[in-house]
Amino acid sequence: MTNNLFGVHYFPTDVPATFESRPGELYHYKAYIGSHRLEVAQGDCVYFFNESLDTAFVKRGPCTIETAHLATVIRGYMPPDASCSLSGVTTLPYINGCSTRQLFPPIRLGDPTLQLLKIPPFSKEQDHHIHSTSRVVLILSGKGKSIVGVADKNITTALTPGMACIFEPMAPHHFETHTEEPLIALPLHIFSSIGAIEKNHPMFNGTVQV
Ligand SMILES: [Fe+2]
Repeated sequence: MTNNLFGVHYFPTDVPATFESRPGELYHYKAYIGSHRLEVAQGDCVYFFNESLDTAFVKRGPCTIETAHLATVIRGYMPPDASCSLSGVTTLPYINGCSTRQLFPPIRLGDPTLQLLKIPPFSKEQDHHIHSTSRVVLILSGKGKSIVGVADKNITTALTPGMACIFEPMAPHHFETHTEEPLIALPLHIFSSIGAIEKNHPMFNGTVQV
């Protein structure tokens, strides 16, 4: 399901699909939603998750991977291969009671980063915001709502575990939770903002409240 009005796209991960960055975007990426076997070229890298959804990986090309949930190939970025557990607590504060953990921090300032974002239960106060670069997000656990748009035209979409959400640059949005369970989301920043300390890290600096 796509929302071309504001540049936000939602996908169930039980149906294979792909989504590629717009021709005019600053950075090139291609997301593979659902089950795929894909070849990653030299000069590119891929961020993906294992089938049991307990580990995140980044691998540099050339390589071949199989993915069941979500894999995102970023052109022209070649970090070393790494893996990271998705279990564990968040470690950095984010806005409006939310918090984050850097699964794969940017190696240099502004590099791509995969984060683990926790939105607490009954969180309705997250400020509406935009990001300067695309976000490719997997909903890991919990339920919530994604609100996209502007004051007179907001579109609400239910968030459920396993969904993929892609936010194009400058898409105005925020997430809410309405149950006793936190929402855990895994946003990949297609290149990021600077910093890695309290209130000065990619999740914080990459969010501009509107
Ligand atoms: Fe956001």
